Amino acid sequence: MKTAELRQAFLDYFRQQGHAVVSSSSLVPADDPTLLFTNAGMNQFKDVFLGREERDYTRATTSQKCVRAGGKHNDLENVGYTARHHTFFEMLGNFSFGDYFKREAINFAWTFLTGDQWLKLPTEKLWVTVYADDDEAYDIWHNEIGVPAERIVRIGDNKGGRYASDNFWQMGDTGPCGPCTEIFYDHGPDVAGGPPGSPDEDGDRYIEIWNVVFMQYNRTADGEMLNLPKPSVDTGMGLERIAAVLQGVHSNYEIDLFQDLLKAASDVLGGASATEASLRVVADHIRSCAFLISDGVMPSNEGRGFVLRRIIRRAARHGNKLGATAPFFYKLAGALADLMGDAYPQLVSSQKQIEKVLLQEEEQFAKTLDKGLRLLEQDIAELKGDVIPGKTVFTLYDTYGFPVDLTNDIARERGLTLDYEGYEQAMESQRERARAASKFGIDYNAAGLSVEGSTEFTGYEHVDGHEKIRAVIVGGEEKSAEAGDEAVVVLERTPFYAESGGQVGDTGILTWSGGRFQVSDTRKEGDNHLHVGTLIEGELFPGLEVDARIDHARRERIRRNHSATHLLHAALRKVLGEHVNQKGSLVDPDKLRFDFSHFEPVTPEQMREIERQVNEQILENTPVQTEITDMESAQEKGAMALFGEKYGDSVRVLSMGTENYSVELCGGTHVNRTGDIGLFRITSESGISSGVRRIEAVTGFGALEWVDETDRTLRETAGLVRATRESVVEKVQQALDRSRQLEKQVDALKAKLASSAGSDLASSAVAVGGLQVVAAELEGADRKALMETADQLKNKLGEGVVVLASVADGKVTLVAGVTKSATNRVKAGDLMKHLASQVDGKGGGRPDMAQGGGNDPSKLADALADVPAWVEKNIG
Ligand code: ALA
Repeated sequence: MKTAELRQAFLDYFRQQGHAVVSSSSLVPADDPTLLFTNAGMNQFKDVFLGREERDYTRATTSQKCVRAGGKHNDLENVGYTARHHTFFEMLGNFSFGDYFKREAINFAWTFLTGDQWLKLPTEKLWVTVYADDDEAYDIWHNEIGVPAERIVRIGDNKGGRYASDNFWQMGDTGPCGPCTEIFYDHGPDVAGGPPGSPDEDGDRYIEIWNVVFMQYNRTADGEMLNLPKPSVDTGMGLERIAAVLQGVHSNYEIDLFQDLLKAASDVLGGASATEASLRVVADHIRSCAFLISDGVMPSNEGRGFVLRRIIRRAARHGNKLGATAPFFYKLAGALADLMGDAYPQLVSSQKQIEKVLLQEEEQFAKTLDKGLRLLEQDIAELKGDVIPGKTVFTLYDTYGFPVDLTNDIARERGLTLDYEGYEQAMESQRERARAASKFGIDYNAAGLSVEGSTEFTGYEHVDGHEKIRAVIVGGEEKSAEAGDEAVVVLERTPFYAESGGQVGDTGILTWSGGRFQVSDTRKEGDNHLHVGTLIEGELFPGLEVDARIDHARRERIRRNHSATHLLHAALRKVLGEHVNQKGSLVDPDKLRFDFSHFEPVTPEQMREIERQVNEQILENTPVQTEITDMESAQEKGAMALFGEKYGDSVRVLSMGTENYSVELCGGTHVNRTGDIGLFRITSESGISSGVRRIEAVTGFGALEWVDETDRTLRETAGLVRATRESVVEKVQQALDRSRQLEKQVDALKAKLASSAGSDLASSAVAVGGLQVVAAELEGADRKALMETADQLKNKLGEGVVVLASVADGKVTLVAGVTKSATNRVKAGDLMKHLASQVDGKGGGRPDMAQGGGNDPSKLADALADVPAWVEKNIG
């Protein structure tokens, strides 16, 4: 049975058993910051298991795209070296949400595997495991299905902790989990390995094909196991593994799909053999890379993007091992689309994008791959012992872009290991340096310093308040401050916003009778707002009550920019597509800066449309809504959460624009109505790294200033060319055309001048061994004029040698010509080499015409004078 037929049969079977056939979800989990990539079929149903979400079905079946590279389930380093690990695979699954439980789940699995109408696997080849104390599952297998006791293995907590077991499945450190029963296939005695639970269970003989999880608990962050609302079922069967069983092969790489992919990989790698581990790595990796890119992930140096980068670079390195000298990996996107495009049309529609991203990453890595490999080879050659030093690993990462697992891969091929600790240390010292470089004046993070309690923030509604000081820190120590001191002040309550979420901290002033403290920045440390600044007069100490007032005008500018950032983010997604995700953001009083994932420059038309949509939302002048709620209802509203951000139990949802144009989780300060933003103008758009673009924009007064500035430039330009605003473009164009024309005329005149000077030179020729030799400097002539004059002189001389030179901007330009008839006696190229070397330069060319240049005009006169003598000496 072909892989594609098997996928279909599975879905058909469960459809017949009343399951809704649901499509695979994206590899980037929707709004689940606990998960790097979708790594199991159940991910998209997580909230249904937890009882937070209802669907209109209680039974579902899927074939789910999964990536296990990075995060809890990480197979990357094994891929290529074992028969069945992949970065990307498809998981077939059936799910019950409080519908059926153990009995039906086991029966379904058994019927599909062994039933006459279905896979017809011989029952004696199947083994099962159950969680040690799950007697219920054991009894169903033994008494109802009839699996003999010797092929049922009980497995307890064998991984060092309560519920840490091969037979207890959990998605991540938190979330739904439960005991499971696994079905194994015995590939027969000619494959090495022992049954599950035995010491050599890791061999390839007994392969787990299906995991049936009895979802019962929700594991919380502090390790508590809460009962799920209803016992449920989650199963997973690796499509590639079961295909191997049905196709009678022992390795996933031998199934139809991989045979075709290996063939394609071999073709682009000049016929590499399919038995090479490296070729398997390449065939495996193209699947994860292509699927990740088509789900919107871009190579980068953090998070998901970094995992993608690691996989691409690992593939590139293995291709390189197989002899690739140019980018090859991107070429496999087409082959993959041919093979899997029917089931996953996204591969076809994004093929171009996949190719582009891969090619660019390959090209970028190629620049450092060789150098990095050489460095590593050198280190290995000098190595005493078998551990590669952490410093080397770090340099390879930092300077040559070698992800650590790539270095480890190479080390493993040589039987070496890495000094991870040393690497971490080198990494940490670099972080230290970066931190130190970014720190300013006061070190309020100084070791040991911690301020108790938390500051209440009143700044969403208030710009000032009468507040009490809880702590004062001077020079890293808690003590009173005196006039002139730079200090950090912590208040019980404050209207000052502390820098976070891209929004800069507030500035302002604290005043009290006889005292003033100028706040130059506000930062967060734990739950405290730190007011950083200078004590202008008076004394500052805990317990003192002060009037705290932020720089209101500055805050106004900040909040306009912040709200506009939200509208911009939404407009980008609407105009460019849903792949746009925030990669970075800075909001200060002068501008907003927004980095986002997008592969190509934003076109001028798109830019206009984005700007138009944002301004349209501003003009609609709808109220900006904030709501404090829980994550679940926030997600129902479609709030965009940022990956990698930590959100607490309650989140703040910001909605703005017509029909909830933008809904985001955000703790920043915002305008009351969109109209408060005033005006939005994009001032620049640029690329900052592969696949990441940056837009800078201004709002409100900033936008007016920008428009004024632009207007002034326009008026001044118009003044310079004596035009009106309307005619300025035309006038500037005319002026440019005219200056181009004049340049041409000047060129022509120069050439004329030079050539008339040139013809005079013919008379200055000296005879050397029957040849007429001319060597002269032509003032003001450029290279073109020198060449033309040299040609004319050659014609005039009949048989001879011409050398012409000129000097401009401290550089010498040289031209040498030899008439055709004389090239058997003297070569222009040789003469030029000699000449150029005398003026500190280089040159060369054909026997009849050569060119060169030099950096030392002071030697030119001597060099020219020497030409007849050189000809005499070198004439043939
Ligand atoms: N979620 C289970 C697994 O991934 C079925 O193995």
